[in-house]
Amino acid sequence: MGEKKLEGAGLRGQVAGNTALSTVGKTGKGLTYRGYAIEELAEKATFEEVAYMLLYGKLPTQSEYDQYSSKLKSYRSLPAELKEVLERVPKDAHPMDVMRTGCSMLGNLEPEGDFSNQNETADRVLASMASIITYWYRYSHEGVKVDTATDHPTIGGQFLSLLTGNEPSEEHSRALAVSLILYADHGFNASTFTAMVTASTLANPTQVIASAIGSLSGPLHGGANEAVMEMMKRVGKSTNAETWLRNAFANKDLVMGFGHRVYKFGDSRVPTMKSCLKDLTEWAGDTKWLEIDEIMETSMVSEKKIHPNLDFPSGPAYYLMGFPINLYTPIFVMARITGWSAHYFEQNADNSLIRPLSA
Ligand code: ACO
Repeated sequence: MGEKKLEGAGLRGQVAGNTALSTVGKTGKGLTYRGYAIEELAEKATFEEVAYMLLYGKLPTQSEYDQYSSKLKSYRSLPAELKEVLERVPKDAHPMDVMRTGCSMLGNLEPEGDFSNQNETADRVLASMASIITYWYRYSHEGVKVDTATDHPTIGGQFLSLLTGNEPSEEHSRALAVSLILYADHGFNASTFTAMVTASTLANPTQVIASAIGSLSGPLHGGANEAVMEMMKRVGKSTNAETWLRNAFANKDLVMGFGHRVYKFGDSRVPTMKSCLKDLTEWAGDTKWLEIDEIMETSMVSEKKIHPNLDFPSGPAYYLMGFPINLYTPIFVMARITGWSAHYFEQNADNSLIRPLSA
């Protein structure tokens, strides 16, 4: 206690293994998934294509894609016992707790099989998460029992239609798909590393995912997209942004949505998400959040040399899409399940218990 921090504390700068899934600041060219630049995937691919590629090793052919989409759709129904549990979770529970409970309950109800069954479990959990969160949200807030077995072609579209009860616009569906693609994988980030550590003990797949959900929930990681929007609401308007930041600097407060353990000169996902934020700003006719975003980004970079991370544009983008703020991190879960599962597969294929030493 009170001693100087260890060099490498928080595994800073340590290489913890190899992966074929994504590059984070390794190539000098930004983030890639299985060799494809995320900018290209965000422009041309669906989230389900990216999910397939991460989980099955390559982009799907048209017929593989059609089969995969049908399979994911067929996995959207929730067992009655799981719906009963969700109906008992209070309205004011944190939705990340709901995600973890939903995943755990699914693991209690459905046999997960052994490692040879890994893709089935991953696909089932991937397809169920939008169902779990929207079923709980609509029931606890409105008393509505939504039928999660929709025929919507995409996971994002299913989430939007179940949450609002309306057919989503093309613009919102695409913006959400881009955000899911950008959130899908990111090397050995904290939640993925948590999944790997759990997997390395040969735990079952839903234990792996449930532990990763817990790790993602904190505000230094996935919880930051919610914290960004709460912060922007406290800033209130663009003319307050400079003063608000000065106070934060004086108090040595963290400015949410800025900084990154790996990227020190900017997060390569930010320009794509910022472009979505600009489109959403135009569609909504509400420039306030983009104005605050730009003032904060300019000041943080010029005065602190700290760049925004993906959560910074994601927070206001989700706000402009009308999502309740406490559902932002669950949306991150809906995407990152693909990365967690794919890293879990890699870990299992060449397993060694992850067990560091202490000094
Ligand atoms: N606001 C203010 N100062 C910051 C911020 C920030 N957001 N981020 C880093 N700094 C400061 C640190 O306080 C530190 O200052 P010091 O040297 O005077 O002590 C300096 O910058 C260097 O920071 P690091 O120690 O290199 O940052 P670290 O790698 O430990 O942390 C982290 C990275 C946790 C993401 C941090 O930047 C942070 O807390 N950011 C805010 C939370 C956030 O946005 N998280 C989302 C991460 S991305 C994602 O999950 C998609």
